[in-house]
Amino acid sequence: MILIPVKASKTYEVSVTQDFNDLRQVVDGVKSGDKIAVITDTNVEKLYLSSVIDALEGFDVCVHTIPAGESSKNLSTYCTLIQDIASSSLDRSDMIITLGGGVVGDIGAFVASTYLRGIRLVAIPTTLLSMIDSSVGGKTAVDLPIGKNLVGTFYQPNAVYINVSCIDTLPTRELMSGYGELIKYAILDDRISIDDMKVLDSSLIAKAVSIKRDIVEADEYEGGVRKLLNLGHTIGHAVESLSNYTLSHGECVVKGLRAILDISSRYYDIKDSDYTQLDSIIRMLGHDCTMPYSVDEVIDYVYRDKKKKGDLIDIVLIKAKGVVEIVSMPIDKVRRYLSEYQD
Ligand SMILES: NC(=O)c1ccc[n+]([C@@H]2O[C@H](COP(=O)([O-])OP(=O)(O)OC[C@H]3O[C@@H](n4cnc5c(N)ncnc54)[C@H](O)[C@@H]3O)[C@@H](O)[C@H]2O)c1
Ligand SMILES: [Zn+2]
Repeated sequence: MILIPVKASKTYEVSVTQDFNDLRQVVDGVKSGDKIAVITDTNVEKLYLSSVIDALEGFDVCVHTIPAGESSKNLSTYCTLIQDIASSSLDRSDMIITLGGGVVGDIGAFVASTYLRGIRLVAIPTTLLSMIDSSVGGKTAVDLPIGKNLVGTFYQPNAVYINVSCIDTLPTRELMSGYGELIKYAILDDRISIDDMKVLDSSLIAKAVSIKRDIVEADEYEGGVRKLLNLGHTIGHAVESLSNYTLSHGECVVKGLRAILDISSRYYDIKDSDYTQLDSIIRMLGHDCTMPYSVDEVIDYVYRDKKKKGDLIDIVLIKAKGVVEIVSMPIDKVRRYLSEYQD
């Protein structure tokens, strides 16, 4: 088992392992009362709930299952969950376990952060995306009809338990979506090499978690360096939203990364060898890098996005592998650079 300590507003460990054999020890280490509410979704319930319940023998466990998918990440599901948990009489010494991808993780952590002003939380992320991204860092959220993640808190878990073998049951599209974030980490930080990217194992996942951990420890509440995690996301979010979420998050992040590499190469004097290396990392897993929307559609969305300041937008640019920076760029310059971009 690989243990990754996180020292943020809470100190906790991320355990990266291959099975659920050590889950009991991790739960016992959080020192909760005798009640545990497990929040999961309809897909993950069928695959992993029984193993988790087995590991919790002796606890008084109640299970709350939400329909799988982003459409569950809303205030109505939140109200149902929190009332169900109150009916089970959990008190402040008790614990919530989230078992699922980023949807279950985000809404379950929001419940944990608000029920009785915050109760213990153990996260068991089951998608690649949630293992390397959403389960670490303490952002909780639900969506509103007018936009994603508009309601939420910062609330660190008491432990994160990653059973890497859960990836084996992921549909290919979900796997490719998670890979989009892995590509982002490989560009952000030199700790992930091109060779590392070739084998999806505990070591690669632990490296990605450590990169996110370091950024979160430096800037838990996203006042500065945490914004680097938005690499590829300004344009990626625009594409995701324009597609009406028919394209996955990771698919859009990769398109965003490819466009940002192009913008970066016009902004900086990137060495040919660096450009070729970055381009091959972005393409190495076979993602479609084409931009399916016009420059004006993308820019109109970006302009409305929260990262704009007047006519300037904060955008994360790439200088070389492991070297990125936040640049405030006039929106018209982004428009011009993007209009020259062709994949
Ligand atoms: N809090 C953060 O910092 C943060 C960061 C990134 C993304 N997010 C959020 O995460 C969400 C996306 O997360 P996601 O991609 O994990 O989506 P998800 O939770 O919807 O999971 C994707 C699908 O895979 C299924 N699934 C989960 N684990 C499985 C497994 N092991 N085997 C088979 N199927 C499995 C789910 O039931 C679902 O149908 C978004 O809501 C996004 O906003 C949050
Ligand atoms: Zn993302």
